[in-house]
Amino acid sequence: MNAAVAMAGIQKAFGGVPVLRGITLEVAPGSILGLVGENGAGKSTLMNILGGNVQPDAGSISVGGQPFSPRTPADARTAGIAFVHQELTLFGNLTIAENLHLTRFPRRWGLPWIDRRASVRQAADLLARVGLSQRADMLVERLTAGERQLVEIARAIGAQARVLILDEPTTSLGAVERGRLLSLLRELQDAGLAIIFISHELSEVLQICDSVVVLRDGQVAGTGSASTFSVQSLVALMVGREVRQLYPPVRAPGNQEPLLEVRRLGEPSVAHEISLTLHRGEMLGVFGLMGAGRSELARMLFGLDRHTSGDVLLEGRPLSGGPAQRIRRGLAFVTEDRRQDGLCLEAPVADNMTLVHLAALTRTPLRLIDRAALRAEVARMSTDVRLTRAAPHLPAGRLSGGNQQKVILAKWLLRPPRVLILDEPTRGIDVGARGEIYELLHRLADTGTGVLVISSELEELTGICDRILVMRQGEIGGEFPRDRFVREDLLRAALPVRVSG
Ligand SMILES: Nc1ncnc2c1ncn2[C@@H]1O[C@H](COP(=O)(O)OP(=O)(O)OP(=O)(O)O)[C@@H](O)[C@H]1O
Ligand SMILES: [Mg+2]
Repeated sequence: MNAAVAMAGIQKAFGGVPVLRGITLEVAPGSILGLVGENGAGKSTLMNILGGNVQPDAGSISVGGQPFSPRTPADARTAGIAFVHQELTLFGNLTIAENLHLTRFPRRWGLPWIDRRASVRQAADLLARVGLSQRADMLVERLTAGERQLVEIARAIGAQARVLILDEPTTSLGAVERGRLLSLLRELQDAGLAIIFISHELSEVLQICDSVVVLRDGQVAGTGSASTFSVQSLVALMVGREVRQLYPPVRAPGNQEPLLEVRRLGEPSVAHEISLTLHRGEMLGVFGLMGAGRSELARMLFGLDRHTSGDVLLEGRPLSGGPAQRIRRGLAFVTEDRRQDGLCLEAPVADNMTLVHLAALTRTPLRLIDRAALRAEVARMSTDVRLTRAAPHLPAGRLSGGNQQKVILAKWLLRPPRVLILDEPTRGIDVGARGEIYELLHRLADTGTGVLVISSELEELTGICDRILVMRQGEIGGEFPRDRFVREDLLRAALPVRVSG
């Protein structure tokens, strides 16, 4: 049988730097291929070539046995290739239904105007398939990152493609949504689709994929049936060496001096009387399911969203005003949606890292900045987060997805904040760099910074935190010190409370 997709000898360089150095791979109809590799290995670039977004320098592609050389994304769509990009591409000011049908609105009797009712109905069907409960006429800008990811997946599924490319489709999803997506992929596979699945969650890859291709530095480092690999062996192929323990050794608990105190914080339908204390030098985790209100809490603490009642104290003094004021008081926030809130994509990496600190740096009497020192700090931070290959003068938008996330982390870690809030900090970051980021956070906490980590990955939280709070339905539903980190208990505390009667 013809392969659904065959790529052979694909090469690509950007500005003379080779990124893909002769890649060959095949996907059969009705099968799922996992594509893994470190940040910057070339996964997205390879898929962008298949999707018509990037032109290769050499190599050939065939789809369903026919030679295929897409010049534009529209060419790829016509050939039956649907693509869920790593960075979401939805329009915030359009509704869910409009986003779903942008390239092919339903028409009435073939006439050139749009059948709006059919549009909303079809959209509702697609949303039900991915398990999103929002109404199809809701504006996309009102959705969370996870909900947007589901809309993006719904759009690709609605394209009725024969090849489906998913570039890190689960980065913003909670455990429940992930599970549902994986079973949906199995259904599509049974219906004969060929699926290419990119993820840094290697256990997820081994669970869902039939075969795996490992990229390292733009070359195929290994390939074979998924059953012949383990997470360990994948990591070794990706990184080119054995990786030791992912999580750092357990830290000695810090002192119990309160740093950030949240008292009865409330906002209708978002937060209900949330009280918590983050101590100096503490690693505090916040676990919860999608929609539990964790990101909303973080945004309120950072002054991005308002709250109607309650207050927040930093070192005993009320914290007020917007983000700029709070940054001056020593707060830092790594958001879950890096494209929207995190980076200035046109600006060089080095500027992105230093921008937030300039105000502080120029408050000296002469308003001078020590540029040489700044450059040295940028270089040091880049090494710390393993951003070695990215030249500091490259626009941030040119970096791979995971490397962009590292720039955001580096930006906030450049000058240790008093309180660091992180929302899903390691999503999209490869396992090699993850371990180093965890160590970095521990070192930061050891200097007295209070670190509040929001994550949907329980293992990540139990691996690095001193204490974990569980949120559900806009409330704190449980508190667990390290000696009570029991997976089942934490999960149970996250489940919604059933209303009786
Ligand atoms: N338009 C571009 N100009 C310059 N360099 C680019 C461009 N697009 C990608 N690159 C570089 O190509 C390399 C591969 O990037 P790619 O996005 O394919 O990595 P990836 O494997 O998808 O990584 P991640 O896991 O972080 O998403 C990176 O070093 C990146 O900086
Ligand atoms: Mg990528």
